[in-house]
Amino acid sequence: MVNHLADPPIVVALDVPNAEEAIRLAKATLGAVGGFKIGLELLMGPGPGLVGVLNQLGQPVFVDAKLHDIPHTVERAAKQLGMAGARWVTAHAAGGPGMLEAAVEGLDAGARGRSAGILAITVLTSLNDAILAHSGVPVTAGKLTSKRTRLAADAGVEGVVCSVKELGVINDVAASLAKVTPGIRPDGFDAGDQERVATPEEAIRRGSSLLVIGRPITRAADPRAAAEAIATSLQGITAPAHPGSHKTRD
Ligand code: C5P
Repeated sequence: MVNHLADPPIVVALDVPNAEEAIRLAKATLGAVGGFKIGLELLMGPGPGLVGVLNQLGQPVFVDAKLHDIPHTVERAAKQLGMAGARWVTAHAAGGPGMLEAAVEGLDAGARGRSAGILAITVLTSLNDAILAHSGVPVTAGKLTSKRTRLAADAGVEGVVCSVKELGVINDVAASLAKVTPGIRPDGFDAGDQERVATPEEAIRRGSSLLVIGRPITRAADPRAAAEAIATSLQGITAPAHPGSHKTRD
């Protein structure tokens, strides 16, 4: 059985421009999801103080900070987010093993005994082989995902953020890592700007530990009902501990 990171294994992405809207959405979905995610827009706007406000609602907060800097700076930034109450913080594996280790140490220090973990971003889903080559990274996205997953696991992160299509690769390389998957679209919901989408049921069946879901919940006429419907659809769905081996993208 795959361990889910929250119950239900859904965090709602609060992709809105201000704290008022974020809190309104969080209250609207409270109890129907397992946590809330804030990203760069809210971090740069209202700031990390919002983490504490959301924590007061009683749900874990996922801070999609996508940290990437020298290890010392990342350690201190992660510590701040730990002190602010973040349960999960994202950091780019591209920053290297020392940076990821620093992120893990900083978050731990800030969390002071509370449970908190770094989730590594392996390769942004907006990148492909051609863009990587053009940027001076002459390996395929698939190979880079494998390499960075290994590096992230060795650095002590709690998990990785990946597309549902990459779950097999991640399990081949480091099955014990938590796998957090965005790009989730219930049947019939427009994919929008997401390239590689999967239904919530497929994601859980293939071994996702936590679904990150934005627009299918936040743009629904009734966000709570949308979240509840997704959570209900996941009941009873299980995944093997080590889902079968899949080929990498290359
Ligand atoms: O609205 P939607 O369900 O597409 O939102 C997905 C959320 O997950 C957004 O907050 C987006 O920034 C985030 N995310 C993603 N793909 C990644 C990493 C994070 O869509 N590779």
